[in-house]
Amino acid sequence: MDTTPPALRHSGWTPGSWRACPIRQVPTYPDAAALAAMETKLTRYPPLVFAGEARNLKAALAEAALGRAFVLQGGDCAESFGDFTANIIRDTFRVLLQMAVVLTFGGGVPVVKLGRMAGQFAKPRSSDTETQGDVSLPSYRGDIINGPDFTAQARTPDPARMETGYFQSAGTLNLLRAFASGGYADLHEVHRWNLDFVRNSPLAARYQDLAGRIDETLRFMAACGLTSSSTPQIHETDFYTSHEALLLPYEQALTREDSTTGDHYACSAHFLWIGDRTRQAEGAHVEFMRGIKNPIGMKVGPSMEPDDLLRIMDILDPENEPGRLTLIARMGADKVADKLPRLLRAVKQAGRTPVWLCDAMHGNTIATAAKVKTRRFDAILAELRGFFDAHAAEGTIAGGAHMEMTGQNVTECVGGARGLSEDDLGARYETFCDPRLNAEQSLELAFYLAEELKTRRSARRPA
Ligand code: PEP
Ligand code: CO
Repeated sequence: MDTTPPALRHSGWTPGSWRACPIRQVPTYPDAAALAAMETKLTRYPPLVFAGEARNLKAALAEAALGRAFVLQGGDCAESFGDFTANIIRDTFRVLLQMAVVLTFGGGVPVVKLGRMAGQFAKPRSSDTETQGDVSLPSYRGDIINGPDFTAQARTPDPARMETGYFQSAGTLNLLRAFASGGYADLHEVHRWNLDFVRNSPLAARYQDLAGRIDETLRFMAACGLTSSSTPQIHETDFYTSHEALLLPYEQALTREDSTTGDHYACSAHFLWIGDRTRQAEGAHVEFMRGIKNPIGMKVGPSMEPDDLLRIMDILDPENEPGRLTLIARMGADKVADKLPRLLRAVKQAGRTPVWLCDAMHGNTIATAAKVKTRRFDAILAELRGFFDAHAAEGTIAGGAHMEMTGQNVTECVGGARGLSEDDLGARYETFCDPRLNAEQSLELAFYLAEELKTRRSARRPA
């Protein structure tokens, strides 16, 4: 094992240098030869994204770091092989579009749209095994690793799943690109993005009112000569993909050298992040991520100390490059006021301006009396409010929000405009991992964020 401190190892990076570092959360494949064969196979497959797109995203994130754009990162906790349908992809995409339009029009900021989609398949778990009755089996780690059924066969890590994950990512990405640039995302379609079940919701009138105002604006712009055909920004949108870079054999196999710059890019998605359980400075995940040139993220939970954070930032972003690093704070509503400000302060004092996102999901997971995992909508709003408050107090920028959400009409999180209760959770609880906001709750969150942005910005503006 290489015992040189990571900061001194900078020049020694290769796509496989993580293999010499201690690693957490990576499964043990029983058939090492099958794993190696799959890695070789994937190494020859075409990249899913290309370096120029990752650079465009980095530039957009640099704007968010300075408060000139807002990032919306959202999608499933875990995508699944069973839910690979056009409707599911389209519905998540359109809720993200709706949220973005609420923020752009209501909050007055450009929105960077980043799906937890087209590759969000690998999950860190708090326990390596799951026990039911007197049977213990390996934990489910996401469809790219093993299956959710509680059988020895399903739970055995299978490298063939990586290939399925690759092709499903390619299919999802293809549809997302078509939606983003083929007319579906045209601003003249805002009315049509509304999903049927949201149409009857307490939020419908609010959304239709906003869509009506957008129509009016578009008519005015058309009269001035700005139409979908003359102005691509009306007709299409930029949409990027992201996932947790957990399964390093897969990520390495999809890493490519960019022929124009000689730099390495992870080509499984535009943006990858390091989870809260795998962010050790000496660990394999930090080692892999420091060498790829994509914009990257890191989850920052309540156990992170300012000195550790600065040390990891030095490793991941030694040049303090604009848009390179996004810190995704996930403290919990009850801890955000205590834990976040000192991190914001330390990072600011170190002269760094990462993008700060608020993941108001992962610090607010609770179990009901019936042992169902859920999240309270009020707690999610409370963490977001605490996040905005902390940034206002420290003079730093609240750059965006990270959500687990879906376009489906699920009942996984309690609260929101329709007042879902714990008794409602059984109706449509479909997640493979953590509870997600449904379309209506996501839209409500966007209205809340738009209000925050509007009020905070006018508060900043000189009288
Ligand atoms: C996640 O984003 O699904 C996740 C596991 O988050 P965290 O690493 O913050 O716990
Ligand atoms: Co999750």
